[in-house]
Amino acid sequence: VNIQIFDTEETLNEAAAVIISGTVQTNPKAVLGLATGSTPIGIYKHLISIYQKGIVSFRHAMTFNLDEYAGLPPGHPESYYTFMRTYFFDHIDIVPGNIHIPKGNAPDLDAECVRYDKLMEAAGSFDLQLLGLGHNGHIGFNEPAHALIQQSHVVALREETRRANARFFASMDEVPKQAVTIGIGSILKAKVVLLVAKGEDKADIVRRALRGPITTDCPASLLQTHPRLVVMLDRAAGRFME
Ligand code: GLP
Repeated sequence: VNIQIFDTEETLNEAAAVIISGTVQTNPKAVLGLATGSTPIGIYKHLISIYQKGIVSFRHAMTFNLDEYAGLPPGHPESYYTFMRTYFFDHIDIVPGNIHIPKGNAPDLDAECVRYDKLMEAAGSFDLQLLGLGHNGHIGFNEPAHALIQQSHVVALREETRRANARFFASMDEVPKQAVTIGIGSILKAKVVLLVAKGEDKADIVRRALRGPITTDCPASLLQTHPRLVVMLDRAAGRFME
């Protein structure tokens, strides 16, 4: 595992953006697995500025997001679709048809999962999967469980996950109880996995994910089995390395 610790958030975001833009420069038709949450926002900001400098173009790239809240239409202010447009897609030259995010308001979510898996399969394995990390070790919305699911599926969000995400909603009641997420199989199939975590509050779960036993109780611990895992941490999240 390639673990990199950064002194400032700025240098971390920049380094992560450089890996992602480098992937697209090397292969303009790259397939990127993208993430939401507060962690990647600064990375997207840097990617936009790399794009604006003319260093990279996303015109031929394809993206697949990890997950989406069940029940939220794409235009909902807290949908991950809106998030991705606001923080990234509206500012780069990606072709809208090459953007993929599960449809949280699809009438049949199981059918939506099958549709999404078929699209991913047709696109081939991701050149890079960007990941944040939930406080309970979830990646995408693959929550701790007795067994993890390889394919896309509908998941009941854990109470702690809903609480952590409640800050974006008017009240806890409005936080969706379910989500659609790609499975652990699709994440592990990516050629490169870039896991990013920042802050004191992630220190414990980062240690469990990288140094603890490989267990479905901490889905991120399965990343230890990935041949090309790159981890970028700030000092606070990477405290266990000292
Ligand atoms: C959400 C997302 C995850 C993300 C996690 C951590 O639950 N589904 O993809 O990694 O939150 O979020 P944050 O980066 O805000 O800590």
